[in-house]
Amino acid sequence: MSSSNRSNSIKTGVINGVALIEIARPEKKNALTVAMYRAMTEALHGAVADKTVRAVLITGQPGIFTSGNDIEDFMQRPPGQGSDSMDSPVFQFMRALLACDKPVVAAVTGAAIGIGTTLLLHCDFVYVSDEARLAMPFVSLGLVPEYASSLLVPQLMGHVRAAEKLLLGEPFTPEQAVEYGLANAVLPAGEVVNHARRVAERFNALPPGAVQEAKALLRGPQRARILEVIRAEGELFGKRLRSPEAMEAFQAFFQKRKPDFSQF
Ligand code: COA
Repeated sequence: MSSSNRSNSIKTGVINGVALIEIARPEKKNALTVAMYRAMTEALHGAVADKTVRAVLITGQPGIFTSGNDIEDFMQRPPGQGSDSMDSPVFQFMRALLACDKPVVAAVTGAAIGIGTTLLLHCDFVYVSDEARLAMPFVSLGLVPEYASSLLVPQLMGHVRAAEKLLLGEPFTPEQAVEYGLANAVLPAGEVVNHARRVAERFNALPPGAVQEAKALLRGPQRARILEVIRAEGELFGKRLRSPEAMEAFQAFFQKRKPDFSQF
């Protein structure tokens, strides 16, 4: 390992040309806080700047990739509204992910909820544990889809399946993630990280300039549209985070009860 760091429940380090971003807050199911987004953004910027880094690997803990944004943070420290939402730590992280000019490989070690699934839409390779479940339950939380999922999910799987995942928040299996084109392969839980790492390490043998230009070309045609959709979604998302519907959903989560939307 040429460098390593452990802060804010994010472990980072560079091993054999691969910059690792490991989400490590298992006691809260790897829920992502503002501090964790900041640490991941820093790691992505570091990976781009470090000439020895040829790829990035994002992973979680056995049984959990991430349960999504920390719901307590959603209540206490929500991203700003309107144009302010674009300065929030979560937005900075997603912007850094979209701007990362090196291949990003995800090892989905377990449940991937909310942003845990939407961030995969912006990775280049996705390997999923056979024990994982994926879900984007934004509407169930009084929210709306984020980070271009309203554009990219229907493109990947068609409108009616996207409606199941984004309007009903239906979870889906690793096999379905592969079938829909969201993931490359399903691996046994104990092998998913090593497999993803081996894929990331293959870039050590490839010409980095060509890899970066090819990645930019793959992402290029839709880039402006994706950023436009992310902005539109972000404005709505910021408003919805402060809505009575979202408050009811968040409180219900912490009170371990079903939310009651009958009064709205
Ligand atoms: N934000 C804040 N805390 C979270 C969290 C989140 N997104 N996800 C889990 N936690 C906390 C729980 O409150 C619990 O804390 P406690 O031990 O202090 O009570 C702890 O992590 C363990 O979670 P628990 O729900 O008991 O684990 P589980 O194995 O039964 O279920 C999940 C795991 C991931 C299915 C479940 O925690 C979950 O659905 N989380 C919320 C997912 C979500 O809606 N994310 C937001 C998407 S936008």
